[in-house]
Amino acid sequence: MSAHFTVNCDSDHFRINVKLLQRRARWLLRHTGTPGHDVSVLLVDDEEIRWLNSNYRNKSEATNVLSFPLNEGNEALSVVDSIGVKELGDIIISVETAEREAEKLGVSLHHRLTWLLTHGLLHLQGYDHERSEKEALEMWDLEQKLIRQLHNSRSNQMTQLAINVDHVATVRNARGITEPDPVAAAAICELAGAAGIVVHLREDRRHINDRDVRLLRETIKTRMNLEMGANKKIIEIALDLKPDMVTLVPEKRQELTTEGGLNVSGQKKKLARTISRMRKAGIPVSLFIDPEAKQVKAAHAVGATYVELHTGRYCDAANETVREEEYQLIASAAEEAYQMGLRVNAGHGLDYQTTARIAALDTIEELSIGHAIIARAVFVGLDQAVREMRKIVRDASMIF
Ligand code: PXP
Repeated sequence: MSAHFTVNCDSDHFRINVKLLQRRARWLLRHTGTPGHDVSVLLVDDEEIRWLNSNYRNKSEATNVLSFPLNEGNEALSVVDSIGVKELGDIIISVETAEREAEKLGVSLHHRLTWLLTHGLLHLQGYDHERSEKEALEMWDLEQKLIRQLHNSRSNQMTQLAINVDHVATVRNARGITEPDPVAAAAICELAGAAGIVVHLREDRRHINDRDVRLLRETIKTRMNLEMGANKKIIEIALDLKPDMVTLVPEKRQELTTEGGLNVSGQKKKLARTISRMRKAGIPVSLFIDPEAKQVKAAHAVGATYVELHTGRYCDAANETVREEEYQLIASAAEEAYQMGLRVNAGHGLDYQTTARIAALDTIEELSIGHAIIARAVFVGLDQAVREMRKIVRDASMIF
């Protein structure tokens, strides 16, 4: 499913955010019952749309939007081309007219373009406001509903950055003293724009300890995500602490860091029980899983609210071919989870090079990043290291 945009107007003047429109078009395709379909969108000026309107509709004036379905009529919504892509057709929008209309209505250009996109897409799906008043009302209602939903949706929001401060505690514990303090680090991360703080309370307390989680619970102003193994004692601590969410991970004593995702399908009963206890205490649960359809389905089945997709294999890929394969696995697992109604986070191993592509996936809400930021902070300071990563995440999700 994709929306192919071509900009054929003065892009310096209009400064169109094509990525934003692409995300919105994808969302619209998904929510108007045409996932898996492609649409082509051409952004033009008044002169070009006037020419099209006159040649194809015998109307001599410029208009705001034109739709050309590949297949007229209701029997077949789309045309499947020789490589199996389902094409709905073309939408042509005059940015010049859209800008005038936006000014008149007191809305942003992108808001107006989104409305025209929605209108054009509904035309491609067979809606027609010119056939009867009843149909015109029906189409108008649907447009309003879609625009409202879209503006409240994930597709309209920037990917969030949550920062894992475990390794500040690792440095502290190396000396067995009180500095550097992960509690102070969390405050600096928040001041630099982090949307949440993540800490992993391990059974062996190798970095974050009980005092840290207690103080963090009191001082974090954004959201506290407690990463933990699903073991009895830690579950009791979490229920008592009530973080904003917990992320369940597999935990092995010998590992240097979390090595892989949870095998959810292999321990459904145990995880469902833990999730249910957390839910009763008002704590949403995320399951850290490898990007595999089997694990996504199992996470949904056991009642998780979120999945966190393991990005480790994508980050550690030995060459670009493998990296691309791993990226595609993450993208399709994220899409599948999103379609099932799961909320989707991602993390592990992300750094200043590998983060942008993952942040650009509009199905992913939040990234959890630790080591790369804390490592960079040693050289440039924590505030700057966070701001630089935040900029990467913000630019990649391109929302303004
Ligand atoms: N997500 C999970 C589930 C993790 O276990 C970790 C590592 O603690 C991270 C994200 C962050 O990984 P990194 O420190 O490599 O950024």
